[in-house]
Amino acid sequence: MSDVYQPAEDTFLLIDAVMDLPNFERAIEVGSGSGVVSVALACKAEYLISTDIDLKSCYATLERLREHGRRTGTDVVCCDLLSAFRETPIFELIVFNPPYLPSEQVQDVSVFGGEHGIETSVEFLRQASCRLSRSGRILLVASSLSDVDRLRQTASKLGLQYKTLRYVRLFFEELQVIEFRNETYK
Ligand SMILES: C[S@@+](CC[C@H](N)C(=O)[O-])C[C@H]1O[C@@H](n2cnc3c(N)ncnc32)[C@H](O)[C@@H]1O
Repeated sequence: MSDVYQPAEDTFLLIDAVMDLPNFERAIEVGSGSGVVSVALACKAEYLISTDIDLKSCYATLERLREHGRRTGTDVVCCDLLSAFRETPIFELIVFNPPYLPSEQVQDVSVFGGEHGIETSVEFLRQASCRLSRSGRILLVASSLSDVDRLRQTASKLGLQYKTLRYVRLFFEELQVIEFRNETYK
């Protein structure tokens, strides 16, 4: 059982990247936690879905959206990554600040992302790539504590191009927000 993840440097880096984006029709945040990124996204998207695998986090997101008057045009769904949604390219924006600490045992789903720290992110990219609209974007937070090179290789195999939108160097790690888009979109 994990606690609701409290906003930290990775959260704020993602919010900064989101605020630079244009407006969207349909967006989804995976792993919404406390809901602060969803509140920022709700200002940008006509319709937003927030999801988390943790039910307490879903309630926290719902409450946060309500507090900010953002319940019109938003839904919150408790599910594993994007598994609740059809494999149809309908989302213009898909966002995830994933658990990225490496650990052989995932004791806390809000911070541990698998043996190399990227296993949850790799599966997320697989599920996101077939639900992304042709001109859409995926925003994913990555840490130097995890195997970012392997994450990029996975993206290439899935036909996604990538670039770093935001970057911050902290005392013990470097964080970046990576944008992925369809290679066929110029
Ligand atoms: C690092 S926290 C980020 C929370 C929030 N978005 C933020 O930026 O502060 C990761 C979140 O992803 C959720 N999560 C982990 N694995 C997931 C999965 N397989 N499907 C959906 N959500 C997941 C966790 O419960 C947690 O809320």
